[in-house]
Order: sequence, then C-alpha cells, then structure tokens
Amino acid sequence: MTTTEDQSVSDAVTAGSHATDIARSGAATFRTGGGQADPARVSAVVGAALEGIRAAIREQKVTYEEFDAFKRWLISVSDTGEWPLFLDVYLEFEVEKVAAETQDGSVGTILGPFWLDGQAQLDSPATLPMRDDEPGTPMILAGQVTSTDGTPLAGAKVDIWHTDEEGWYSGFASKPPAGNLRGVVTADDQGRYEIHTRKPAPYTIPLDGPTGQMTLAAGWSPWRPAHIHLLVTAPGHRTLTTQLFFTGDPYLGNDVASADKPELTLDPQPTGNGDEIRSDRDFVLAPE
Ligand code: DHB
Ligand code: FE
Repeated sequence: MTTTEDQSVSDAVTAGSHATDIARSGAATFRTGGGQADPARVSAVVGAALEGIRAAIREQKVTYEEFDAFKRWLISVSDTGEWPLFLDVYLEFEVEKVAAETQDGSVGTILGPFWLDGQAQLDSPATLPMRDDEPGTPMILAGQVTSTDGTPLAGAKVDIWHTDEEGWYSGFASKPPAGNLRGVVTADDQGRYEIHTRKPAPYTIPLDGPTGQMTLAAGWSPWRPAHIHLLVTAPGHRTLTTQLFFTGDPYLGNDVASADKPELTLDPQPTGNGDEIRSDRDFVLAPE
C-alpha cells in the first residue's frame, strides 16, 4: 500500500483490498471451471487482448509520457487492491454476455466485486439484517423460483446484497455494520420468497482510487443506478447471477459498469403500509 503514516486508509483502499482478498481466495466458488492453460487458447485470447491495446497505441499515437502514466496507473491499481473493482466495472459485463449465450432462464447480469460468503441464513418471509434506525424506504421483494419447465423449486436460495440508502456496502465501507442488508433467504416449499429490506441508493465507484480517477479523467460518469444484487440457486440448476434496478432511476442506461438491462427494472408500488413499497419478481433457473 502507498499510504503514508499520517494518512488514514481511504475508502478506495478499504474496499479494494478486501475485494482483492476475496478474489484471490476464489471465494466465488459457484463459478467453477477455467484454469486449464491450453496454449492455443492462451495465444488466441491474450494475443487478441494485446493486439487491441497495440492498435490503440498505433491509432491514437500514444506518447512515451502517456505510456509512463499508464504504467504508474496500473501499479496504483495493484497498490490499492482495485483490480476486482476495475475488472468488474469495465470488463465483466462482456464476460457475462458471453456466458448468457448458453444460459436459459431469467436474464442475468454481472456479479460485481461486493458479494460476500457466509451471510445470515434466513427463512422466507425474511427481514434482512439492518440497524434499528436503518434509513431508506421500506421495501418488499417477493416472488417465486421455478425451473424452466415451470416446476416450483422448493427450498431455492435467494442470496441478496445491496447498498444502504447512502450507497455504502457493508463489509467494504466502514459505516454500515458487518452483514448489514445482506442475507441468504430460503424459499418455501412452493419456491416462494419474500424479503423485507430498504430501497438501495445509486452508487459511485470509489472516486479516490485509480479506477474512479481514470473514470473522472476521461469525463465519464462514475455512477451505477441503484440496484439489488441476487444469486438464485437450487439443486440441479445453474446459478442465476443478477441485479434488479428501479424505474425512473437517473442513471439507468448510463451505468458505469454497463450492467443494467431493461428486463431487470422493477417498478415498486406502495403497499399502503406507511411508505413501504413492494415489487414482485419471479426467477427461472435452467437445469444443469
Ligand atoms: C462495482 C460496484 C458495484 O456495486 C457493482 O455492482 C459492480 C462494480 C465497483 O465499484 O466496482
Ligand atoms: Fe453493486
């Protein structure tokens, strides 16, 4: 790390180093495969990637000053642990599109860097762990998990995580307590789930780290529309990795992580219980 003694550890470093530890440990074990180093495959993929960068150098007539700045920037991505953030913002959506070509069932999108293993296990109907005075609009997300042939998937699990009303993820920012607004909810014997939480807020990627600095230097928006992350699993079925967004969000269609899709937009309605809102959303999982 490049922090000096009198500097407090920034949020970019807090989020980045934790995301790096998780990525290094391969904790996202629901994504298996890869790892085999077939020379033809390495040559094809790495060769194409390098040629893309070389083409940019040629076409843009990149100078030595810019090349040296690029080196320093890459080093700072490592120093701050921001590789998972950078890769998930700027590249994961393309990998997800390739994966989606061979996955039936509900529309998915990127996982992002902020999933955590080992969160509260809850039975439906469930209220996510939250502070006594958790800010934000109370929200219910409910629906049914079925297989592609319509069979209800009894005991399906809905792993859910999202920011608080200020846009902070528990486990990655110092403000929310560990486990806040995260949980793994087991659906009932009809595959039905009901989750009580708070509506999340739009989020900017950390602006004090190299990913955010590069984004601002290019004049790009650092915002993600408000979203709820979900991993929906059931035995014998492929895991659905998805996110849900909110109609009317000012950042829809301009997501820095390019992860929003029209099929994933919720339009929650008032329940009549105070300012509580509710959205119903079914998930269809493809058999393995
Ligand atoms: C990032 C944040 C997210 O909430 C997300 O879903 C994807 C990426 C990020 O900061 O890198
Ligand atoms: Fe997110």
